[in-house]
Amino acid sequence: MAGDRLGPGARETVTPAGRARITAPHRPGFPSLPDRSPAALPKRTVVFGRRPCGVPGFACTRPSGVAVSGGKVQGSVVVSLPPDAGTGRVPMTLGRPAAEKIKRGKGIGMPSINYLTRVEFDFGAIEKLPEIMDLTGIERPMIVTDQGLIHHGLVDRIKSVAPLFQETEVFADTPANPTEAAVNSAFDRYRAAGCDGLVAIGGGSPIDLAKAVAILDTHGGPLAQFAAIEGGIDRLGPVVPLVAVPTTAGTGSEVGRGALITLADGRKLALISPHLIPHAAVCDPELTLDLPPGLTAATGLDAISHCIETYLSPLVNPVADAIALDGLARAVASIETARKDGQDRAARWNMMMAALQGGLTFQKGLGAIHALSHPLGAIRHVSLHHGTLNAILLPHVLEWNETACGPKYAKIRWQLGLAADTHLPSFFRELNARLNLPSTLAELGVRGDDLTRVAEAAVLDHTASTNPRQLSVDDYRAVLTAAMGNG
Ligand SMILES: [Fe+2]
Repeated sequence: MAGDRLGPGARETVTPAGRARITAPHRPGFPSLPDRSPAALPKRTVVFGRRPCGVPGFACTRPSGVAVSGGKVQGSVVVSLPPDAGTGRVPMTLGRPAAEKIKRGKGIGMPSINYLTRVEFDFGAIEKLPEIMDLTGIERPMIVTDQGLIHHGLVDRIKSVAPLFQETEVFADTPANPTEAAVNSAFDRYRAAGCDGLVAIGGGSPIDLAKAVAILDTHGGPLAQFAAIEGGIDRLGPVVPLVAVPTTAGTGSEVGRGALITLADGRKLALISPHLIPHAAVCDPELTLDLPPGLTAATGLDAISHCIETYLSPLVNPVADAIALDGLARAVASIETARKDGQDRAARWNMMMAALQGGLTFQKGLGAIHALSHPLGAIRHVSLHHGTLNAILLPHVLEWNETACGPKYAKIRWQLGLAADTHLPSFFRELNARLNLPSTLAELGVRGDDLTRVAEAAVLDHTASTNPRQLSVDDYRAVLTAAMGNG
């Protein structure tokens, strides 16, 4: 086994302490472990060698946690690793509960997998919009967007690619956190103009609002009856066609089956149905090149939190896990560049792809970050950005969840090329700081007297049940208190 991993002549034994000891000949050009082991090796790893060991990118380049001492084993390197951590890889297991179910001859209870949205993704993808519109059969679309994109000229730019859009109705009053009142007013315009489909241009808010308008067209209101926690999933059937054109890289709503709307009663609830997945998504990173640095960072952290929460969700969906982990690594590797240089096309491409990947996978279930950011986004005395909230909450929720996630944190570290002893909450806290994101809820204007209401709503949020650790109202309040900057 060790020979396969480390090259010819390598030998693996288990020490009395239960640690694997790998002995391999020392020679220039000695192959490093086949993955990114230097960073993934655990803290207590000791590498002995007569000279700096000669393993390219191995002990000699690891910044900390590795002792190199000459002369202990002449002509050899000896690497001590905990069992199963030798390559930094985490075994691909189903987890004990799922494995037990299978042993008993039962199914795991996997959620449906649905990745069938047509996606046109690339620089210049917007040119395919006329073709997409033809396929949807929409003859009188209504564009749903926001004032910022109108002023920026982006809506006119998109309208110019298809003659169909020249006289089309445009609803541009989408609030930062879409409300039922805004949905109703968009629907009035939609009906008055005799529209038969929707094109949502923007971030998550216009896309979510357009989904809610589509519901009203085919199902009528009020929207509360379609909220997931009110049993609305079974009440939703097919809706009118919707084409999503994201102009940020974060929400994932362009391929997601949910819409978050603040209802008339003040609750911010999810409307969820496979019928709400847009008929097509046109993802053109060109549209994100001028996204300001702050919004690039905040929306990017939304994508990152989708990928992390999806992966940590205890439901079983290896397809989603694989996509989420790839999206996570892609976003973490690109977000700082995208923020620093918005015109970096590769970074923008990767961020938009990570957002798409997050959206494709979160049908596996999100967790406590979103369970908290949804009710925080419904606070009336201050308008809070969803991605910014997720950025602040991410390190705190990671602290809470660690004991319930088995080997998944190790897998995340491996995926990100981090040392095995990296404290993930600190890693993301530092990433937020480098991105100039706020670090506390208090900075955003959240007040102490908001916390209990938010904690009570978090327990009821549709994402709470797929957090790896079930949190009580008191637990959520403790997370919030820490995130306020008081914990
Ligand atoms: Fe989100």
